[in-house]
Amino acid sequence: MWYHYAHFLHPLTVLRQRRYLRINKSNAFPKKVVSTSYENRRLHPPIFKMKSTLNHATSMPVLVQSDDDDSTSNHSGSQTTVESPVPSMHRAESSIMFSEIGTDDDIETAVAPHVGYKKVLVTGGAGFIGSHVAQFLLARGDDVVIVDEMNDYYDVRIKESNLRLIKESYPEEGRVSIYRGDICDEELMETIFEKEQPKWVCHMAARAGVRPSIQDPFVYIHSNIKGTTHLMELSHKYGVENFVFASSSSVYGGSKSTFFSEEENVDNPVSPYAASKKACELLAYTYHHLYQLNITGLRFFTVYGPRGRPDMAPFKFIDRVSRGVEIQQFGDGSSSRDYTFISDIVDGVVRSIDRPHNYEVFNLGKGAGTSLKEFIGLVQKHVGKKATIRIMPDQPGDVPYTCADVTKAYQMLGYKSKISFEEGIRRTVEWYKDAYVKKEIEVCPETQANGLGRAPSMVCLEMPGN
Ligand SMILES: NC(=O)c1ccc[n+]([C@@H]2O[C@H](COP(=O)([O-])OP(=O)(O)OC[C@H]3O[C@@H](n4cnc5c(N)ncnc54)[C@H](O)[C@@H]3O)[C@@H](O)[C@H]2O)c1
Repeated sequence: MWYHYAHFLHPLTVLRQRRYLRINKSNAFPKKVVSTSYENRRLHPPIFKMKSTLNHATSMPVLVQSDDDDSTSNHSGSQTTVESPVPSMHRAESSIMFSEIGTDDDIETAVAPHVGYKKVLVTGGAGFIGSHVAQFLLARGDDVVIVDEMNDYYDVRIKESNLRLIKESYPEEGRVSIYRGDICDEELMETIFEKEQPKWVCHMAARAGVRPSIQDPFVYIHSNIKGTTHLMELSHKYGVENFVFASSSSVYGGSKSTFFSEEENVDNPVSPYAASKKACELLAYTYHHLYQLNITGLRFFTVYGPRGRPDMAPFKFIDRVSRGVEIQQFGDGSSSRDYTFISDIVDGVVRSIDRPHNYEVFNLGKGAGTSLKEFIGLVQKHVGKKATIRIMPDQPGDVPYTCADVTKAYQMLGYKSKISFEEGIRRTVEWYKDAYVKKEIEVCPETQANGLGRAPSMVCLEMPGN
């Protein structure tokens, strides 16, 4: 089973579920929570007794269901019909377990968590982080509306597969609605807000990646700055209760601090990507100031894990070392990053959604750095192969050292990273072996290698032998 949620529901979740029952949403419980496991019977006896007698609330209308997918085209323009059929690339159910989410040692936070049912708009829900957050929300009983333009910044089949996994896990009407389109498309987004009336927004859609943003800044201005502004405008108009969006550790640029704290001045972003995220934070404050919209910006520190982005070092290194392909080490290997495992990030995102702060920015990281050399060593250890390494000069725009000070997130959200880097790499390698090695699936993590993020999917620009 992909997620073993039933085994680790904490008291808050139980309370939340009881409340769902009171509001007649019993069938909104994820199938996997209502399992027949011993642990679940022990945790949720009332749910078992009542499930068959209560009806699901009437579902909200859906513009488009991903079931209708019927084309393989990869254009990123908005549309009101979802494409496909999806190429049948198997993405194994992962070894990630969110058992660490929601802890027994939870601290009390100044803003009490909202524990009722939510309908959450998750933008970028086909992507790495967005799809994991969507799955977690669905598993605990919330309903999710996903908007994603399915751009081909990396292999679109990965995004299709993420959506398929979500749809297949929650086939009940009204649990998950999927819209394919650009968040900047005014007509589409207005229709979605009008029909779905989400009161909670988790905005993960963005053009990610530092280096491509140097080569094509305009697409970053469009998706990240214009897109976020557009969503905040609609959130204000439709009375959203909490707007949580992804910022990035990139905003810290070339900071000399040991631990990056939210209080640090971040007025000197060193890439268009970082500047776009900083711009979102500034605009977010403006929307809070003007309209009292509750907004939280989350500065993620290099996120990795099962279903991770293939353009990022953890996936690339695991993939390449597994296949015996050379890896590139930028600099002397001493550069260090704070790598954060996906379940920790989901935990931080969900804690932020549940706690509507007026306006806050939080670091979400592990709180400890790992050097590139150590990183490569761990990949070799868990893949079980020696890496072929080519040393390259440092890249412009790259931040030599990132390490999150997560004190504020701990105090105000109760966030605490739980997965060590070695354990995270072990789990990611395990997932990779299942998803790719066993099925002999070729990946091309380099589709964005032209720097534009617009390369046709699966055109391998930098494969062995090229
Ligand atoms: N992964 C990381 O290490 C990391 C670090 C810092 C910040 N972030 C931020 O977290 C968020 C999620 O990142 P991710 O790693 O899951 O990336 P991702 O590329 O896997 O997901 C982003 C999704 O947004 C979609 N998207 C992009 N522009 C869009 C638009 N205009 N309209 C609709 N959909 C659009 C993409 O198709 C994609 O599926 C992003 O905002 C990113 O900038 C990620």
